[in-house]
Amino acid sequence: MCADKTAKLSVNGKEYDLPMMSPVMGPDVVDIRKLYDEADVFTFDPGFTSTAACKSAITYIDGDKGELLYRGYPIEQLAAESTHLEVCFLLLYGELPTKAQMEDFTSRITRHTMVHEQMHYFFRGFRRDSHPMATMVGVVGAMSAFYHDSLDITDPWQREVAAMRMIAKLPTIAAMAYKYSVGQPFVYPKNSLSYAANFLHMCFAVPTEDYVVNPVLEKAMDRIMMLHADHEQNASTSTVRLAGSSGANPFACIAAGIACLWGPAHGGANQACLEMLREIGTVDRIPEYIAKAKDKNSGFRLMGFGHRVYKNFDPRATVMKESADEVLELLGIHNNPTLQVAKELERIALSDDYFISKKLYPNVDFYSGIILDAMGFPTSMFTPIFAISRTVGWISQWKEMITENGKIGRPRQLYVGPQKRDYVDVRHR
Ligand code: CMC
Repeated sequence: MCADKTAKLSVNGKEYDLPMMSPVMGPDVVDIRKLYDEADVFTFDPGFTSTAACKSAITYIDGDKGELLYRGYPIEQLAAESTHLEVCFLLLYGELPTKAQMEDFTSRITRHTMVHEQMHYFFRGFRRDSHPMATMVGVVGAMSAFYHDSLDITDPWQREVAAMRMIAKLPTIAAMAYKYSVGQPFVYPKNSLSYAANFLHMCFAVPTEDYVVNPVLEKAMDRIMMLHADHEQNASTSTVRLAGSSGANPFACIAAGIACLWGPAHGGANQACLEMLREIGTVDRIPEYIAKAKDKNSGFRLMGFGHRVYKNFDPRATVMKESADEVLELLGIHNNPTLQVAKELERIALSDDYFISKKLYPNVDFYSGIILDAMGFPTSMFTPIFAISRTVGWISQWKEMITENGKIGRPRQLYVGPQKRDYVDVRHR
């Protein structure tokens, strides 16, 4: 609380003093918790554009400056110096690990990478053409049916084990979903490899041949994971917190987060973006799509552009663009039509008045899709890779919520339905 600041609200001629809270960074917050009790009114904020639903010490975004900090550390520094697993430690525990802590953490994660053998049968129940996100929602939810010893959310040790299991097993589950969809045998995790290299190995190795992970691709994959690791109270994270606020087990909460992430306005944008680039096909068709994006009645948006919070640039996109250049250079991809369309679309959107005035910049998903496509992933795997990366953020936020807030999340509503009325028997309707 900041004792020296108060907000005043006048409701039907009566004045109410509302306490104010000051964050470490960012705008002050008006505390409206007692508003309903005292003034008998609710506030209306669909989309939560002005509402803080929790306190959090994990991630900070300054949308105007284009700044993203994990536990205070700028994303650009972490992307240049750190690794995804180190970032996982940072997000989960609040500080960068010592060498010994990192060794212990790496060992704990890598020893949880296999899934219960019986889970293989669970996969086989899905149709081969299932979207890997559908498979992931199901299989991650089903983890609560396999790991009964880490379901008690009141036990810190069990919460810790559940966290390790999910960070370790999500790549395995996503890779299995992919292998199943292409009809290839599952590839077991290889604990001698890094987190990112192990994932690439499980996706692209086949039992008949040796598969050596290219270090440039390993680094690019690790960066994709780091850049997506957390993003404060976005839709899927808020879903995880809301599900968790009822006391649901952690596997069920993360499955709920994965389901929310799937939507094209959120994590599904990477798939939607690349599909859009392919649909545009050639540079000469771009103006048609730009016109459609500007036409409110078309219902069409340029996927991979815009962000609720970033109104200057998306710092993740800047790093991702560099990574995209490295990967394309390595793979010798200079002139493919999708890339040409992407580059021209980026150029036009950055110089077009509509996009400039609405502050619509290419976001992280614009470039991540280009990298993942170049690596050989089908578009349907783009969002599962986002899910693997965001798992640590979801879990860190869930753990924070469990230890700090005992209240179930339960928004109010502005009712616009019928008045109370009497039931009419079917013969008289
Ligand atoms: N193409 C064309 N116009 C757009 C776009 C776009 N991609 N995004 C926003 N606008 C327009 C929108 O029509 C509106 O215009 P007006 O003020 O005239 O009504 C204005 O910009 C503000 O849009 P909004 O929907 O109120 O903004 P929001 O903050 O609610 O939505 C967003 C943010 C990311 C959902 C939206 O920009 C969007 O749908 N982008 C495309 C999907 C996408 O790339 N999503 C990935 C986000 S980054 C990864 C992640 O965090 O999940």
